[in-house]
Amino acid sequence: MVIKGLKGVAAAETAISHIDGINGQLIYRGIDAGDLTNNHSFEEVSYLLWHGEWPDQQQQQLIELKNELKKQRGLPDYIEKLLISLPAEMDFMSVLRTAVSAAGPANKEKPTYSDAIRLTAMIPTIIAYRKSHLEGRAFVRPSAELDHVENYLYMLNGKRPSESQRKALETYMILTLEHGMNASTFSARVTVSTESDIYSAVTSAIGTMKGPLHGGAPSEVIAFLVEAANSANIEKMIREKLNRGERLMGFGHRVYKTHDPRAVALKTVLLENAGKDAWLDLSMKVETTAVNLLQELKPGRSLYTNVEFYAAAIMKSIQMESELFTPTFTASRVVGWTAHVLEQAENNTIFRPESQYIGRLPVK
Ligand SMILES: CC(C)(COP(=O)(O)OP(=O)(O)OC[C@H]1O[C@@H](n2cnc3c(N)ncnc32)[C@H](O)[C@@H]1OP(=O)(O)O)[C@@H](O)C(=O)NCCC(=O)NCCS
Repeated sequence: MVIKGLKGVAAAETAISHIDGINGQLIYRGIDAGDLTNNHSFEEVSYLLWHGEWPDQQQQQLIELKNELKKQRGLPDYIEKLLISLPAEMDFMSVLRTAVSAAGPANKEKPTYSDAIRLTAMIPTIIAYRKSHLEGRAFVRPSAELDHVENYLYMLNGKRPSESQRKALETYMILTLEHGMNASTFSARVTVSTESDIYSAVTSAIGTMKGPLHGGAPSEVIAFLVEAANSANIEKMIREKLNRGERLMGFGHRVYKTHDPRAVALKTVLLENAGKDAWLDLSMKVETTAVNLLQELKPGRSLYTNVEFYAAAIMKSIQMESELFTPTFTASRVVGWTAHVLEQAENNTIFRPESQYIGRLPVK
């Protein structure tokens, strides 16, 4: 029997994260991810995902992780040259894929925690370096004073972000670090299951993340919100879309059949931080109208906002250009990928499913 898309098939055991779609819970190493965004940093939650436990009480391990991330932020000269030499029309995800691939050593050593840190450290720098080159301005080098998320915004914009901008992006990044056996994580695990190296695994994952069915949704949410903003009657506009059989971008989820906990947490931080924000007001209006109409026109389907819906509002609130949405998602998800690569390498069986032959047979 062929199970298309491996829907419903458990392809590996994992202790990294669990998605409870019925109760709307995302669990990182036994802890509700939605509860992590208030009191924990990107670095702490990354440590938890990589190691399965919190850093020690004295925070020595956390300090070491922060220092190591800072140390590994710089790019080797040849990667900087490569980033400049790639054609201007090459999209950011292809650039990331190429640069990560080039950064990998030639040896085939078993993946290590240090590799995971190096990859996590360098992805924001690759994005910021390429962006400054495309804009024809000097690259703002990483600042050793700033932590991971703040430094990313600093390299992109040349100035320290405000506290609410940092908080908004850090919340988004913590909530998107990891999400079970999604397509890119599966790619990473398949690659490393051949005893290939961690750079190849992350290169595979980036190639998979690039596809619009996986990493590309917030830009489409923006287009939907712009359409709503320009519409004289939002309810009429959405009703017509649904009557035409169109999907509302940022609503519904394959696994969550109730509220997506990441959307709830992102909305909360926006409400706390943003104050009066036109995008947030518009997003909430569209959410209420759409959820009511979906209940009326698609009864029983349990359709609510997903992570992409409020991710779009977050990105707008920090003035992130839409071409950087998926690369920024990559900058957080690399933590989940590398945690899975380390887990796979620890107890490996090569992925080698079967296919069902439906072609011709030789004539006897
Ligand atoms: C995410 C998604 C692919 C999940 O799909 P799924 O769980 O497999 O659900 P199905 O495609 O089987 O749809 C079930 C029903 O809900 C409807 N539905 C699902 N999402 C919908 C949406 N966003 N807008 C309108 N109707 C939707 C379908 O039309 C279908 O209706 P039907 O029973 O009358 O045929 C889907 O909800 C979607 O396309 N959402 C919009 C794109 C998006 O926001 N993607 C980002 C995901 S993080």
